[in-house]
Amino acid sequence: MSNYHIKAFEEYFQVYRKSVRNPEQFWEEIAEEHFVWRKKWSNVLSWDFKNPEVKWFEDAKLNITENCLDRHLSTKGDKTALLFEANDPNETAEHITYKQLHARVCKFANVLKEKGIEKGDRVCIYLPMIPELAISVLACARIGAIHSVIFAGFSATALSTRINDCDAKMIITSDGSYRGAKTIDLKGIVDEALNDTPGIESVLVAKRTHSKIIMKDGRDYWLQPLLDEANENCDAEIMDAEDPLFILYTSGSTGKPKGMVHTSAGYMVYTAYTFKNVFQYKENDVYWCTADIGWITGHSYIVYGPLANGATTVMFEGVPSYPDYGRFWNIVEKHKVTQFYTAPTAIRALAKQGAEFVDKYDLSSLKVLGTVGEPINEEAWHWYDENIGKKKSPIVDTWWQTETGGIMITPIPFSTPTKPTYATLPFIGIQPALMDENGKEINGNQVEGRLCIKFPWPSIARTIWGNHKRYKETYFSAYDNMYFTGDGALRDEVGYYRITGRVDDVIIVSGHNLGTAPIEDAINEHQAVSESAIVGFPHDVKGNALYGYVTLKDSGEGQNHDHLRKEINQLITDRIGPIAKLDKIQFTNGLPKTRSGKIMRRILRKIACNETDQLGDTSTLLNPEVVQEIIKNTL
Ligand code: WTA
Repeated sequence: MSNYHIKAFEEYFQVYRKSVRNPEQFWEEIAEEHFVWRKKWSNVLSWDFKNPEVKWFEDAKLNITENCLDRHLSTKGDKTALLFEANDPNETAEHITYKQLHARVCKFANVLKEKGIEKGDRVCIYLPMIPELAISVLACARIGAIHSVIFAGFSATALSTRINDCDAKMIITSDGSYRGAKTIDLKGIVDEALNDTPGIESVLVAKRTHSKIIMKDGRDYWLQPLLDEANENCDAEIMDAEDPLFILYTSGSTGKPKGMVHTSAGYMVYTAYTFKNVFQYKENDVYWCTADIGWITGHSYIVYGPLANGATTVMFEGVPSYPDYGRFWNIVEKHKVTQFYTAPTAIRALAKQGAEFVDKYDLSSLKVLGTVGEPINEEAWHWYDENIGKKKSPIVDTWWQTETGGIMITPIPFSTPTKPTYATLPFIGIQPALMDENGKEINGNQVEGRLCIKFPWPSIARTIWGNHKRYKETYFSAYDNMYFTGDGALRDEVGYYRITGRVDDVIIVSGHNLGTAPIEDAINEHQAVSESAIVGFPHDVKGNALYGYVTLKDSGEGQNHDHLRKEINQLITDRIGPIAKLDKIQFTNGLPKTRSGKIMRRILRKIACNETDQLGDTSTLLNPEVVQEIIKNTL
């Protein structure tokens, strides 16, 4: 029996049982039957969560782009691989076939080589959602360079921190980017970032907005003339199964962003297999994920997973509100999209706009709807189900993380009965566990705890770039022999999982993970600020919004608070990006602290969430008096 495509609920259970009873045999079969290898593995899996170390398909040789491109050329050469829909609805959509994509990736790969990029070098990519983004990702993979895509909404400071952390040699960017009615000076941001990045030797610049930009001699090169000269054949570099494929940064509770390292073979196998089953992709389907390739969702489920299955994958440059709030549905109708994958924050924003933006369009092509990135509330789930899916398209609420590489807990559409706000059951091969505060596993149903995973899956991140110690501390130290996700979850009476949210200091705003520490650092740079603390509070569109408590050096007498608030948000925009701006800033005379001087964010969170009846005993604080003051002045 081929276990590659699951079509019924009983089959899910059968395959699941097989995958956990004998994981090595299970994944070996999937890998062998559905991918092309230059050399087979000598060992399917070796692992140790204590060390920690995980290796899948050891000694195998492959190149992921041969699996995503070359192998489809003879059977699907003229099929659309990438379907590019521009920001401006009047710009003709671009259908890039597998043959064309292959040629463009090879040309790009040759340009990288010509500019001195070799296997193992790091290349940062800071591009809008234009075809060059997907192509440059694949071109890096073609020659074994490690790509690190940085979301093009991050600021110059955030960009240079990431470039320096992975010591990239090159950055690929564009003259500018379009976002709705706005044009953003991307190259200007790169120029600013590069004031402080000694490792960067060259900058490749794609033309998109035709904005006036400065090109630095000997460092900056327009991409197109180089591509025009390049050969359209480029042999794929033969990679080891465990060679790094990419680094992708994600926020942690403390410290600088973590460069999660994903490797070649396991990542490929798992993203391809999950894509096939979670979206039930069939030949001739048109699949659309609205994420940005700057995030893991875009890596795994716009680029690698779909292409490894020979799918047609839509790439959208714009925003859901431009030219109006009907844009998503307009695109679904125009390209007859069959699978649509988005974030709860987008669903909530669109649900607010009323039915007229939806009803204008024919959404009958849709078969499967997906959501990812944060918990989806019941109201948004029903709106999605009724207005978009017309109650006939199952919703897959997919829980996973940058660190997991692929979808971990999810319904399989048309098989798993869905339940609003529940990600339902573990995907094939995934062994979740709920843990209590004392490090014990909680068995049985109708229980709640901290979500861990007991056994490795093929696409688990292997390390944090340059900091294996932090990898161990963050994910493998909280519980013995377990990967700790940082999320809380409950398991209902039938064993379905519902993710309740982060249990650490990561706050998810509009589906973006934000660590409190870098935001607080940015605020503290303001000369009037003495210290600050950030917490999340519920927001009806963004899921969470940020509440900042700020104490000023001279108690703020005579200062214009509104002006200060603007300056603080500007600092955050400069250091991180507009996604991290605070919704509320309260100036206080002090922050609640333990006797050892640690800020009690838990108390601040309760106050910001209007749950002051749940503060608990505050008398042991160093400064209990500030609590009442903070409550009194709540915004
Ligand atoms: C949250 C995104 C509830 C969770 C793929 C996780 C979710 C973090 C869901 C990872 C979901 C993701 N329901 N919460 N379906 N999906 N999350 O790294 O807190 O950007 O730990 O990866 O998003 O975010 P990341």
